[in-house]
This record gives sequence, C-alpha cells and structure tokens, in this order.
Amino acid sequence: MDILPAAGRPLPVGRPLSGPSPAPTLVYHPPPMQVLGLETSCDETGVAVYDSERGLLAHALHSQVDLHAVYGGVVPELASRDHIRRLLPLIQKVMNEAEIERPAAVAHTAGPGLIGALMVGSGVANGLCMSWQCPVIAVHHMEGHLLAPMLEDDPPGFPFLALLVSGGHTMLVSVRGVGRYEVLGRTLDDAVGEAFDKTAKLLGLLYPGGPSLARLAEDGDPEAFEFPRPMLHRPGLDFSFSGLKTAVMLQVRKLEASGVLDQARADVAASFQRAAVDTLVRRTLQAAEQTQASRVVVAGGVGANRRLREELAARFSGVIHFPRPEFCTDNGAMIALAGALRLADAAAPSVMRASARWPLASLMPPGVAQRPDNE
Ligand code: KG4
Ligand code: ZN
Repeated sequence: MDILPAAGRPLPVGRPLSGPSPAPTLVYHPPPMQVLGLETSCDETGVAVYDSERGLLAHALHSQVDLHAVYGGVVPELASRDHIRRLLPLIQKVMNEAEIERPAAVAHTAGPGLIGALMVGSGVANGLCMSWQCPVIAVHHMEGHLLAPMLEDDPPGFPFLALLVSGGHTMLVSVRGVGRYEVLGRTLDDAVGEAFDKTAKLLGLLYPGGPSLARLAEDGDPEAFEFPRPMLHRPGLDFSFSGLKTAVMLQVRKLEASGVLDQARADVAASFQRAAVDTLVRRTLQAAEQTQASRVVVAGGVGANRRLREELAARFSGVIHFPRPEFCTDNGAMIALAGALRLADAAAPSVMRASARWPLASLMPPGVAQRPDNE
C-alpha cells in the first residue's frame, strides 16, 4: 500500500469512519510517516528524520563556524557553497541511521534566512521529492524554533507564550496551536543575538560571538557596569537592543583610552549579559501576566544561554520549556518535526519555495491555505 498522503491534503489522523451507525469504535489509524528535514537557512547544515509515531529517529549537523571565523561573521556565498557540499552526505548518513530508504515527505526551511543558502535546501528537497515521488513541505524557520521544545520528553501543551531569541529575531509570541501565532512584541532594531555578536566583536572575541561572550562573562562581575535596559518603561511588549549596544561601545572606548580594557573585558561581558537577560526576562514576565500564560517556551540560539535559563526559571512561577541547547541553535530536527506537524501542507515538488523574508504572523494552521510570503 502506498502510504503517501495526497499532495496538499490533510492527513486523516484518528478520524472515525463515516457511514451508518453503529460503528463508533472503528477508528482509522494512519500508518507512521517519516519526514526528512533539511535546515540550510544560515551557517549550519542540519538534517534529521522525524517519525510521526516514534519521534526523532536520527539527526546530524555540520557547523560552518570554522569556515566563517576568519571573516568574523557569516559570508553568504561561502555558506551556500558549503551547504551544497555537506547536504547529500548528511542526508545519506541520517537516512542510514534512521534505517529508511525514502521518507513520506521532505521538509526544508523555506525562509526567513540567507536566500542563496535557503535555495540550496529548497533545490535539494524538491529534487529528491521528484525522484522519490513524494511531497515537499516548506517550513518557516522560526516556526521550527518555536516547536523545537516538542522534541523533548515533556513537550509543552498549547497554549503557551514563546520567547523567540535568535541572531535575526527577538519576539514574544502567543501560541494557541500550530500556525496560530499572535506576535505580542518584537525588537524595533537589533535582535538580541545580534547584540551578543556585536558586543563580542567589540571585545575582540571570536565568531560566533554569543557563546564566546557567555563564556567570558562567567569570569566577570555582572554588577561592574550599569548598562541600560531600553524600552522596559515604555508600554507594549517591544524590545530595543541598539541603545544597549551603543552604551557598551562607549564604555569599551573609555576603558581602552584609560588602558584598562584588558582587565575589564570579562566585567563588560558579564554586565552586558546581565542587562540583556534582565530585559528579556522582564518583558517575558510582563507578557505572561498580560496573557495570563502559565507556560513559557524559550527557543532560538540565545535560548542556549545559561544565565537566561537560570534567571527566567528563578523569576517565573509557571512552567518553562527549553529545548536542549543543541536544539536551541539551528538544527534539522526542528525542521523535520515542524514538517511532520505540517504534513497537511505537503505539496507536489513543482514550485521551489525560498524567501529571505517571511513574517511569522502570516502563517496559518496546517491544511489552511497559507497566505503569500512577504505580506
Ligand atoms: O537560532 P540561531 O542558531 O540562528 C538564527 O536563526 O539566527 O541563533 C544564533 C544566535 C547567534 O546570535 C548566537 O550568538 C546566539 O544565537 N547564541 C547565543 C548563545 N548560543 C548562541 N547567545 C548567547 N548565549 C549563548 N550561549
Ligand atoms: Zn535559527
């Protein structure tokens, strides 16, 4: 029997057979489906297989950190070329580990991200789907991050409040179900990950800045400098990190001019981290109070930050879900999982999808026609 869903049709999950009564106990259980997920939106090539019944079967990641480190940041053209080099071997490895010959569908990150890098994932996904005669699923990168805690043993139930903190986004989202997202607040300028990266660069740390800065901060005094927490006294739930970044820059210049920067680097890192984490935690608590959320999910690369985890856990009285750190940063598992939850959106591999910009709020629940990108 062919287990593939008809392209673009919702899967019949546990739906009772219709017809004359009495046969209420007859329930159709769909066979397990395996989704191959591909993540290539930035500087990590991630591949995974997620099974609709057994969960994550296998995942692998190739990080391009070494490739971009000499340039101090991601070079988009090099990122695309490396995805091309890494993707097929990783797919082979993961499919061998998952012991499958072909998946029911291939999900790929279709945006937002670096357009050339996204096109590698999209091209490979569509090519594989043509040869395997299976459907393709275009996944929103931030939806992948947002659903990543569902890879863990104690997945969050809906509804929940999500703090999405990555290199490109800082958002508070009220989540009522898959594709039912209300963005409550977002950054008006830099993303918090970007602020970590830029501050790290200012302190002479190696790319990627966030983890290096967090490491340096371990040896510093978080009370050494009082940096601003912009926006917190304004109404609403938006963020702003450019003022914090500028304040750190002015402090670094002052320390440099006095010839004491070297001794103070760890203190600057710790004080910056304290201000950034405090801003995130306070806004999250405000959002939880406004929406009466008793469950918070933290996702995205900055979600790997230990101080953020500790501080939120200490100050929020409800339940907090963090994906394990390797599923906070970019990975294929979250894309395979999001694909499995969006099987109803699977489409024939005829149109390649890749959008550098794609607002999260434009997503609809699975099976409902998605609004066009860039809305
Ligand atoms: O989600 P992600 O891997 O990629 C994007 O979608 O952007 O997030 C990457 C961001 C980078 O800015 C990186 O510096 C930051 O997450 N990051 C961290 C930590 N680990 C990664 N920031 C602070 N502390 C960390 N431990
Ligand atoms: Zn990401």
